[in-house]
Amino acid sequence: MAATSPTGQQRRGFWQALDERLGISALRYDVPEHAQGLGFSLGGVSVVSFVVLVLTGIWLGQFYDPMPEHVRRSMYSIVNEAPLGFFMRNLHYWAANAMLVTVLLHILRVVYTGAFKRPREANWLVGVALLGLTIGLILTGTILKWDQEGYEALVHNIEAAELMGGLGTWFSPQFAERIPILTRVYVAHISVLPAILSALLLVHFLLIKLHGLAPSALANRDATTRKTSGEPSHSTFLEHLGVVGLYALVGLGLLVFLSVTLPAQIGPAPVEGVELTKPWWMFLPLFAVENWLGLKGFFYTGIALFFVLALVPFFDRSPYLNPSRRRGFLIFFGLLTLALIVLGIYAKVAPGAMHLG
Ligand code: HEM
Repeated sequence: MAATSPTGQQRRGFWQALDERLGISALRYDVPEHAQGLGFSLGGVSVVSFVVLVLTGIWLGQFYDPMPEHVRRSMYSIVNEAPLGFFMRNLHYWAANAMLVTVLLHILRVVYTGAFKRPREANWLVGVALLGLTIGLILTGTILKWDQEGYEALVHNIEAAELMGGLGTWFSPQFAERIPILTRVYVAHISVLPAILSALLLVHFLLIKLHGLAPSALANRDATTRKTSGEPSHSTFLEHLGVVGLYALVGLGLLVFLSVTLPAQIGPAPVEGVELTKPWWMFLPLFAVENWLGLKGFFYTGIALFFVLALVPFFDRSPYLNPSRRRGFLIFFGLLTLALIVLGIYAKVAPGAMHLG
C-alpha cells in the first residue's frame, strides 16, 4: 500500500470526524445517471436562487422601514447610504427573476419528460403551490418598493381580494385597520410566504427522495414512469449536488454581473387613482387579458391557469414518458405556453388601459 503523507492522513481524519458528526456520506446514495444533466438540475438551481433571496433579503430588512410615511426614504437610503445596500438590492431583484425563470424551465422539463406521472402526482401539486408562493413573493416584493408600480400592484391585490369575497378578507386593508396594509404585506413577504415555501420545499424534497427522480423519458420509446429510488447506478446524489453547485456558481456570476450593470429602479412616488405602469414580465400575459376584460379577466384567468396546471397529471394519464407517445398532450401544453408568450409580448408593446377603481 502506498505511504500516506501526514497531510493526507490529517485530511482523511478531518473528513471522518466531520462525517461522523454530520453524516455527509449518507448523501452518497445512488441517483439515475441523467440526474447530472442541466434539465434535472434546474430545481436545484432554483433552490440556490431562493437561498440568495433569503440572504440578501435579511440584509435589506436591516434598513427597510415598512411604515408608509417612511418607506420611500428608506428605499433611497438602501441604495444610496446603507453598506452594500445598492448591490444587495440589485442582487435580490435579479435573484427573484432567476428563481422564477428556473422554476418555469423546471416545470417545462417535468412536463416534457412526463415526470409528473404516477407516483409523482402529489409532488406535482406541491410544485404548483410552490409556483403560487414564488409569484406571491414577487407580487409582495413589488409592492414594498412603494413607487407607482408598487402602489398599482397593491391596488390590484386589494381589488382581487374583494373578488374573492370572504376568502380575500385577510388581504384587505379592513382586516387589521390599525396596521397599514403595506406593513402587513411586508410581514407576508419576509415571514409568512418564505416560511410556507420552505416547509413545502421540504415536502417536495422528501417526496423526491421517496420516489427517486423519474426515469429518463428519452432512453427508449417504451420507458414508463416508476420509482427509481434504490436502483443501482454509477452516479450519486453527492455528485449531483456538485453539478448543481457548478451551474449555480455560473448563474451567480451572471446575477452579480447584472446587478452591477443593470440596477433595479425606484419609480416615481405613487399617485392614487391612476394606472400608469406595466407589471413585471411574468404578469404581462394576464395584463393583456386585463386590457380586454378588466380586473375580473386578470383574476379569473390567473385562477384558471393554476387550475389547468394542477390538472396536468389528470390530463396525461398514460404510463409512458417518451414525448412521441404523448404528442396530443405536449401539443396542447406547447400551444398554451405559446399563447402566454404571445399575450405577454402584446401587453409589452400595446398601450396600457385604465383598470383600477
Ligand atoms: C420553488 C420552486 C421549486 C423548487 C425549488 C423545486 C425543486 C425541485 C428539485 C431540486 C427537484 C429534483 C429534480 C430537478 O432538479 O429537476 C424537483 C423535482 C420535481 N419538481 Fe420541483 N421545484 C420547484 C417547483 C416545482 C413546480 C412549480 C412544479 C410543478 C408544477 C414541480 C414539480 C416537480 C416534480 C413533479 C418533480 C419530480 C421530477 C422527477 O422526478 O424527475 N416543482 N423539484
